[in-house]
Amino acid sequence: MSLKDKIDPDRLPAHIAIIMDGNGRWARQRGKPRVFGHRHGVTSVRETAEAAAELGINYLTLYAFSTENWKRPRAEVTALMKLLVQTIHKETKTLHDNNIRLLAVGNLDNLPDITHRELMEAIKETAHHDRMAMILALSYSSRWEITRAMNQIASDVKAGIVDPAQINQELISSYMTTKDIPDPELLIRTSGEYRISNFLLWQIAYSELYFTPKYWPEFRKEDLYEAIIDFQKRERRFGKTSEQIVK
Ligand code: IPE
Ligand code: IPE
Ligand code: MG
Repeated sequence: MSLKDKIDPDRLPAHIAIIMDGNGRWARQRGKPRVFGHRHGVTSVRETAEAAAELGINYLTLYAFSTENWKRPRAEVTALMKLLVQTIHKETKTLHDNNIRLLAVGNLDNLPDITHRELMEAIKETAHHDRMAMILALSYSSRWEITRAMNQIASDVKAGIVDPAQINQELISSYMTTKDIPDPELLIRTSGEYRISNFLLWQIAYSELYFTPKYWPEFRKEDLYEAIIDFQKRERRFGKTSEQIVK
């Protein structure tokens, strides 16, 4: 029985989010510059997106560049932005072939013009695809997103568009950049780090967390299958007792 066959197709997470980490360490292990790892990470993105789409996952969110990553050495940031342009350009075909729609969340205005343009182009070109949405978190951090949401709610209250009595969890969610996207049921982080690094703090309130020591450039379809199999063994109680869950 292959790993893939062990997955119960009726209990798939609708949304998987991934913190793609470890590119730099993977490259250093091979005596190469960090950007070599970022380049190899593209293959992992392609494999993961294909595997998720084939399985019938509806949403795949990939943490590609955080607000804090702007603080890296300028040469690395420049190389990453360039790689993004090339990758989006080259991989649009993969998106078409797999009927995947591209979306992006984050402070996209901070991206270099060319990166921004290429991204918007790919989002527009793939808007009709409906097998899976792949959401790139770019120049994203959760505290940035929550702060922005709070600012917008405050200004809508001031403008009389929102009554403060209306503010509830649903309303707050609707001000997040991920509005219309269900919360991820499964969050994966590669590279053996056990932290969230400012990713989707509001949305992962009840996500199942899965950590693997594999560096992102080594992550392949089988690794995604393993994470899903692990997810399917868990009992999601949402605060209730086990007896309440097992009918
Ligand atoms: C993840 O790999 C990619 C980005 C954050 C852009 P890293 O570049 O963080 O690699 P490590 O964690 O230093 O090995
Ligand atoms: C998190 O990885 C951000 C992305 C994967 C894009 P980092 O490598 O930036 O996280 P820290 O600094 O180790 O927490
Ligand atoms: Mg890292």
